[in-house]
Amino acid sequence: MILCKSIAELRALLKPLKTQGKTVGLVPTMGALHAGHGSLIAASARENDFTVVSVFVNPTQFGPNEDLDAYPRTLESDCQLAEKMGANAVFAPSVHEMYPSEDMTWVEVTGNITKVLCGKSRPIHFRGVTTVVAKLFLIAAPDRAYFGQKDAQQAEVIKRMVKDLFFDLELRIMPIVREEDGLAKSSRNTYLNAKERQAALCLSRSLKEAERLYRNGERNPEVLKKAVRNVLNAEPLAEIDYVDIYAVPGLKEPAVPLTGENLLAIAVKIGTTRLIDNVVLGDITTC
Ligand code: PAJ
Repeated sequence: MILCKSIAELRALLKPLKTQGKTVGLVPTMGALHAGHGSLIAASARENDFTVVSVFVNPTQFGPNEDLDAYPRTLESDCQLAEKMGANAVFAPSVHEMYPSEDMTWVEVTGNITKVLCGKSRPIHFRGVTTVVAKLFLIAAPDRAYFGQKDAQQAEVIKRMVKDLFFDLELRIMPIVREEDGLAKSSRNTYLNAKERQAALCLSRSLKEAERLYRNGERNPEVLKKAVRNVLNAEPLAEIDYVDIYAVPGLKEPAVPLTGENLLAIAVKIGTTRLIDNVVLGDITTC
């Protein structure tokens, strides 16, 4: 597996492959890779001739009081996992490589889609995500790009950007990978101490409860949200950021009673660590 640190190196690597008609899959990540990322890499390796995993802790998507400096940086083990899951190259640029000038060009998806849910407490987050993902798309020009349903709002925002900017690629959104006990895998789980790790189970438990009610015919979003809040509030270490329901695709206000597919998304602080999780309520439920 090849490690590229510069844009020129990656482009030089991919150019001949494209001339030969080979397909390229891109898996954008911030590193600290786990089995959730691994599932995206494996899917790309199955579906493309060549898979590139980008590892870049993107400063522009972190707010001033967020965990940019503390975010785990583990490039060596990331390369090992990426290779094991079938990656052909890891692209790990420096901040200067990705943001060469101080005067920035932003790529921003506007409207409610970036203002609801995580957009409320993280007002600049999605602008940073779309800017770096657009750069990665322009650098690697992949045939397919892989994202996780774990970050459901991010996936919706990127879908919109791809449509609006006519990126010529296929987006593949892969299911949430969980620990055996239900906790969604996340690079931020490493921040949790043993007590917090146990408390964090309230997230998936609360979503399971909503799914159960939904399966039993409950279609009132307020009732479903209340049930989720009740489970979360029963956990003393949990502090709710949001519990909300939006129609998918597009994150529009849901129909009442609920029809079609709706995203039930939650963000919860466990100690100082903010965790997110979600389930799609619809014909097929996935939590
Ligand atoms: P990061 O948090 O590293 O996640 C990279 C990709 O892995 C995202 O698409 C995310 O949804 C997916 N992922 C994370 N945990 C997952 C899980 N448990 N199951 C399935 N997929 C999972 O998301 C980002 O990085 C950044 O915002 C990025 C898109 C790279 C832009 O900087």
